[in-house]
Amino acid sequence: MKLTRINRLQGEIAVPGDKSISHRAVMFGSLAKGTTHISNFLAGADCLATIDCFRKMGIQIEQDGTDVTVYGKGLHGLTKPEEVLDVGNSGTTTRLISGILAGQNFEATLSGDDSLNQRPMKRIITPLRMMGADIKSVKDNGCAPLKIQGKKLKAIHYESPVASAQVKSCVLLAGLYADGKTSVTEPVLSRNHTELMLRSFGAEVTSEGTTAQITPPKELRATDITVPGDISSAAYFIAAGLVTPDSCIRLKNVGLNPTRDGLIRVCRQMGADIQMEQIRDDGGEMAADLIVRTSELKGTVVEGDLIPTLIDEIPVIALLAAFAKGETIIRDAQELKVKESDRIALTVDNLVKMGVNAQATDDGMIIRGGAPLHGAHIFCEYDHRIAMTFSIAGINAEGETIIEDAECVDVSYPTFYEQLKSLQVSEEGRI
Ligand code: S3P
Repeated sequence: MKLTRINRLQGEIAVPGDKSISHRAVMFGSLAKGTTHISNFLAGADCLATIDCFRKMGIQIEQDGTDVTVYGKGLHGLTKPEEVLDVGNSGTTTRLISGILAGQNFEATLSGDDSLNQRPMKRIITPLRMMGADIKSVKDNGCAPLKIQGKKLKAIHYESPVASAQVKSCVLLAGLYADGKTSVTEPVLSRNHTELMLRSFGAEVTSEGTTAQITPPKELRATDITVPGDISSAAYFIAAGLVTPDSCIRLKNVGLNPTRDGLIRVCRQMGADIQMEQIRDDGGEMAADLIVRTSELKGTVVEGDLIPTLIDEIPVIALLAAFAKGETIIRDAQELKVKESDRIALTVDNLVKMGVNAQATDDGMIIRGGAPLHGAHIFCEYDHRIAMTFSIAGINAEGETIIEDAECVDVSYPTFYEQLKSLQVSEEGRI
């Protein structure tokens, strides 16, 4: 993908459905009794991998673009897959399905692409084994492929060392099959879509502070799910609207769950002009239209409890920092090293290539903003969020930017370049 400077962005777009919520809707719909209709489903590669896995376990799922119908067969309705479950690039698919597989009466193997098969899985192997699960890393390296022989599970209380919604969700989903109440306490609250949606499916799930607890239900009850727009996808257009001159963009129906909206808080701290209209609440999931206008930004500090609420947005926050006056410090974000790529190293390397004064630290980065960006050849290691971040950098840099493997945006945002183009006011720049 080649990009050059765009002088102005204007118009409105509806960003695609939330990735985390789309995964969960398919999973819980498969485990529920009855038919679940999902609208505004994210038809990106990650969520399609989740559909594929459940089809391989005997669930009939119809997908027509963003409309999905799942014919759930109940908590004990899955059947042994004939093949390895291919989770592609998706950590959420891997870690959440592992919790479900731990409680089945069959054996299954999960495997993904090169990046996925290097990501840490000990974080779920440890609590699942505490529950009595039979799960092993096939290569004995703490990574996928994972072989899971389903078993009767013991209820536990788990003190998670990481604030990870994937770990929390994995344990709660195994808790669906345990012999009593299972709870998870995390150091800082992570996204709570699992807790909210399991409740919509009729499960008794309580949340108190950073502890979530599930009582194993007899069955889950099918329900219809309307997926709000993904704030993690909106993030690229929020950044584009803020830093591209003379811009005003309306982003329709963006999910604003308080465990996900840290980006908005940080942008406002930096001086961003972001307005909200049409605020709504669907099953506890808030959403609103966002109106984003070009703003003078100033540096800030991003740390502590805020980190899990914006974990996937840190590369694009780093880009905003490059356009801001003064210094931005991001800390407590060591989790970034084990995402689809090492996002601390890759973000900083690519920012430096474009002329930004940026430095990696052990748990984050320091960026001194204000210097003009120049085009560069960007390698994203097939990480969709790096590709999208540096595309926004490219349309605000002098000269040409080339993004290698830009098609990896399909993982979470197949229409990204199309929508970016639709906001371009003149033909001066090129996408
Ligand atoms: C996700 C949780 C986060 C996030 C990922 C999606 C989820 O991962 O980075 O993109 O849907 O639960 P961790 O739980 O590993 O922080």
